[in-house]
Amino acid sequence: MKLCMIGTGYVGLVSGVCFADLGNDVICIDRDIKKVEDLKKGIIPIYEPGLEELVLKNYKNKRLKFSTNLKDSIFKSDIIFICVGTPSKKNGNGADLSQIYNVAKEIRASISKFKIIITKSTVPVTTGDEIEKIISQKVSKKLFSVVSNPEFLREGEAIRDFTYPDRVVIGTTDKKSNKILKNLYLPLISKGTKYVNTSRRAAELIKYASNAFLATKITFINELANLCEKIDVNIQDISIGMGLDKRIGGRFLRAGPAYGGSCFPKDTKAIVTTADQFKINLSVIKSVIKSNENRSSLLIKRVFNILNGKVKNKKICFLGVTFKANTDDMRDSSSLLMIPSLHKMGAKINYFDPTGEKDDFKKLNNVHFSSNINFAIRESDLIIIHTEWNDFKSINFNNAVKNKKFIVFDMRNIYSPDKMKELKIKYFGVGR
Ligand code: UGA
Repeated sequence: MKLCMIGTGYVGLVSGVCFADLGNDVICIDRDIKKVEDLKKGIIPIYEPGLEELVLKNYKNKRLKFSTNLKDSIFKSDIIFICVGTPSKKNGNGADLSQIYNVAKEIRASISKFKIIITKSTVPVTTGDEIEKIISQKVSKKLFSVVSNPEFLREGEAIRDFTYPDRVVIGTTDKKSNKILKNLYLPLISKGTKYVNTSRRAAELIKYASNAFLATKITFINELANLCEKIDVNIQDISIGMGLDKRIGGRFLRAGPAYGGSCFPKDTKAIVTTADQFKINLSVIKSVIKSNENRSSLLIKRVFNILNGKVKNKKICFLGVTFKANTDDMRDSSSLLMIPSLHKMGAKINYFDPTGEKDDFKKLNNVHFSSNINFAIRESDLIIIHTEWNDFKSINFNNAVKNKKFIVFDMRNIYSPDKMKELKIKYFGVGR
């Protein structure tokens, strides 16, 4: 099939490359000329394991193309995926849909035969209705169908999530579009992926509901972790004991820092805003947002207590600063709150991240990047494991740290407390 992805950010690039790998002809479009030229040379704008190899392979065999020419690419394609950003509005919590509607206007100027237009970006319920309205102002409804097909890719796991998804959700009541899209996803369906055909509005809401529910699960376990710390219970036992109940499920029950990233914080706020517009109070999600926003100050307080209130001049090392492992993404990472706060309290901070130095901390005079783990932790009073990179899972602390009184605060519960006790390392985890 002939596809075009408008927007070569995270969603558009990963989905486009994976569709090409399934045998489709895909054009990935972006208005950023440099990005498109870089992609043609095999320079990938984001860090995502496995992506570079797939781009190179499919670009070489000519199933994947990159272009800045929207009109020409739409003309050549049967299915058009809108994959542009839907960030939070500057002065509110709702999603800013200006990029989506601009693209809809550009598409309507280029339709001369039947096209399926798909929103893959995360868009509030009724956005598809609006896109349809915009396009139908200039184009006959017989020439296009607007469908919602949300993505459920996790950063760092995106290729696997695309190739082996739990489900594909297609929001359309148009039988012709449904048939074409079922065919597009057939390689995944035949491997066991569930195909869900529903209304467009339902598909839009499924995406927000899923992210809000996952954010709720994480917040739930994070709050229970706070209780576990007071009653000498290991939160991991609770996660296992609860998760084995198939109605609950064990995934997304890992306690840790506040959830972050480009999706959960933005999408939880957007769904609440949409519901408010319909005068519906999503009080559970509102509490989740609040609890998550409080979590970083709570963990800073914990650091303060671990250091017996003496933060000034303490050498603190952060291992990992991105919002999770296997990504270079800093968006809404809890380190963006924790590092400046501890810096303000007088701590001297070193950090190491496998994806390199971050601009976010360059202005803080006592925050420095180290280019390897051993160097980063060498002089530390306190080592904070902030993200769960494999690189941090078997550090020989006693060899690497020269300060004999160092403490480890493992915010991802990577290490066993018993093992750390054996090694005579003063160790704290989350919820245990
Ligand atoms: C999330 C969803 O998981 C994807 O299904 C969705 O497609 C994507 O948002 C999106 O809307 O585009 P992502 O933000 O890449 O994916 O990352 P997650 O793996 O979901 O992690 C989000 C945050 O939750 C991270 O800060 C992570 O550390 C935290 N988390 C996750 C926990 O604290 N505990 C867990 O058990 C799981």
